[in-house]
Amino acid sequence: MSAARGAVIWMTGLSGAGKSTLARALHARLAAAGQPAIVLDGDVMRRGLNADLGFTPEDRTENLRRVAHVAALFMQQGFIVIAAVISPEHQHRRAAREIVGDGFIEVFVNAPLRVCEARDAKDLYARARRGEIAHFTGISGPFDAPLAPDVAIETDRVPVDEAVGRLMAHLVAKGRLPG
Ligand code: ADX
Repeated sequence: MSAARGAVIWMTGLSGAGKSTLARALHARLAAAGQPAIVLDGDVMRRGLNADLGFTPEDRTENLRRVAHVAALFMQQGFIVIAAVISPEHQHRRAAREIVGDGFIEVFVNAPLRVCEARDAKDLYARARRGEIAHFTGISGPFDAPLAPDVAIETDRVPVDEAVGRLMAHLVAKGRLPG
């Protein structure tokens, strides 16, 4: 059996698309299988390591550069890293892929804007619509839908368990997890 190689599951998608939920569920499945894994959640990273950064294009670039480097370090130690970050622009994901290198897996956590806005778990969409949040992804800031993600999950149609199963299967197929 080949040694575990680690990987970075880079979840991109709108706020409220389900990245954190899916990240936690995947982490639980990996942990239950005895696979070292860690979640790097944008909201959490921004409370600590990236607390000095906001949401301008420049600050997001720096936020994501740091997340990608931390992810790469863990991956090199054999962890499956699950990064749950909006990373709204093509260039953000491209830069992260370059930093991480082999083992980078781009996952589009895809829910329509109207669905994310209807959920509005953090009341951010309503505030953005009222003009209270500048650079809010999907409202007052861009979101480039990934053109060729490694995996795409439509969270408004696919149950979390099934989504986790697909990601596990992808990791096995790519030789990142024992089958
Ligand atoms: S990223 O664009 O730099 O990748 P990140 O994933 O770290 O974003 O942080 C996104 C989270 O920050 C959202 O889930 C939301 O809770 C919060 N947030 C606060 N302001 C904004 C904003 N202007 N745009 C998007 N998310 C915001």
